Amino acid sequence: MAETVKITFDGQTVELPLLVGTEGEKAIDISRLRAQTGLITWDPGLANTGSCSSAITFMDGERGILRYRGIPIEELAEHSSFKETAFLLVHGVLPTRKDLNRFSVLLNDHSLVHEDMQIFYQNFPRASHPMGILSSMVNALRSFYPVLSTGEEEINITVTRLLSKVRTLAAMSYRISRGHKVVYPRPDLPYCANFLNMMFDSPVNPYVIDEDIVRALSVFWILHADHEQNCSTSAVRIVGSGRVNLYASISAGIAALWGPLHGGANQAVIEMLSMIKDQGVSIRRVLERAKDRDDPFRLMGFGHRVYRTYDPRAKIMKKMCDRVLRKFNLQDPLLNIAQELEAAALADDYFIDHNLYPNVDFYSGIVLRAIGIPTSMFTVMFAIGRLPGWIAQWKESMDDPDWRLCRPRQLYIGPKINAYVPIDERG
Ligand code: ACO
Repeated sequence: MAETVKITFDGQTVELPLLVGTEGEKAIDISRLRAQTGLITWDPGLANTGSCSSAITFMDGERGILRYRGIPIEELAEHSSFKETAFLLVHGVLPTRKDLNRFSVLLNDHSLVHEDMQIFYQNFPRASHPMGILSSMVNALRSFYPVLSTGEEEINITVTRLLSKVRTLAAMSYRISRGHKVVYPRPDLPYCANFLNMMFDSPVNPYVIDEDIVRALSVFWILHADHEQNCSTSAVRIVGSGRVNLYASISAGIAALWGPLHGGANQAVIEMLSMIKDQGVSIRRVLERAKDRDDPFRLMGFGHRVYRTYDPRAKIMKKMCDRVLRKFNLQDPLLNIAQELEAAALADDYFIDHNLYPNVDFYSGIVLRAIGIPTSMFTVMFAIGRLPGWIAQWKESMDDPDWRLCRPRQLYIGPKINAYVPIDERG
């Protein structure tokens, strides 16, 4: 017989079903709790709440495991390309050679964006953050490409269009912010190389594609491609639960990712390391500040809601960081500071006791700097990488018969009934 959990409240005992996932994780099904008891659950930050069942990504924060569709992240980082990983996440299986060729053709066919979109870019104030611009432009895609049928093939086209155009939009935002002419996508270049070319090619200084840099970018994006029900993915699912279109849902995900506690941490890490270097702050002082409850400063790139051990993505990122810097014989002073900071934090009782380890963002900024990406574009790079995951999660939620309009409850703690006081009688 299936296991249940008994709750006794107000002299009455109810049995709640226990759900078991593929990896043995257990969840109490409380979907009838309020109807049966009048109770709701209270879980700030939703840290103990399973919002859906999903077959996309498995992570085990205690053991430092991350798998997409069952395949360990280490194997994908070693053998796969970002394009192939995107296909895996969105379609659920590794593509055959024929599938991959067709996917490449579609990505190429949809890589241009409507010329009028360039006018939007010209009108954003120069100081606008690229994440705000990207979120707006992705939402605007709905107006430029309004035919959104719900058939399988049409959804596939919308998905491919988005995967391809986001890369073009991101590179355009960088070019226009620098006052440079937009570089169009090239049909002869694969996904990652095409992006780099759109970012950096110039009539006076043609961009030379280096396969190691392309590989580094591909791995960077593979590592970011999905991370189950994180803040931005939950935003995509929740916004999508109102049955809004895919573009608007992804635009919400980009906005959520922007925050420094989430995807914006990669930019915040570089700003923190630069501050340490430029102001000559000692590592000891940085750790003291991070540990001080009265100081809002936190060690950026450290800690994670789910990982209680070294983030498996951070391990791969750290190795890649060493490889890229060695290959190009680059000396990044921020790398030395990062290594010193990591060693000091990992030996510090506060960080040990709180299970705080480097997360994916700790070394990713140094890799991006080596590729030539400016700091203000770091979180945009994360967003391009996370896009296949957001899309896969959105698709899964649309096909899930249990996926309902998301509408949490609350514990009201405001005043009981209050009389309306006319304005002249208010004190
Ligand atoms: N530096 C110092 N102390 C920290 C840090 C940190 N980076 N992270 C957590 N702590 C401490 C908290 O102060 C708290 O201490 P207390 O229990 O003594 O009060 C304890 O650890 C738990 O912290 P919470 O904020 O409750 O943990 P939560 O799971 O909500 O936060 C988060 C996770 C937001 C990632 C946090 O670790 C953090 O702010 N890290 C820095 C920002 C960062 O790197 N974000 C990227 C995350 S990865 C990603 O989104 C791609």
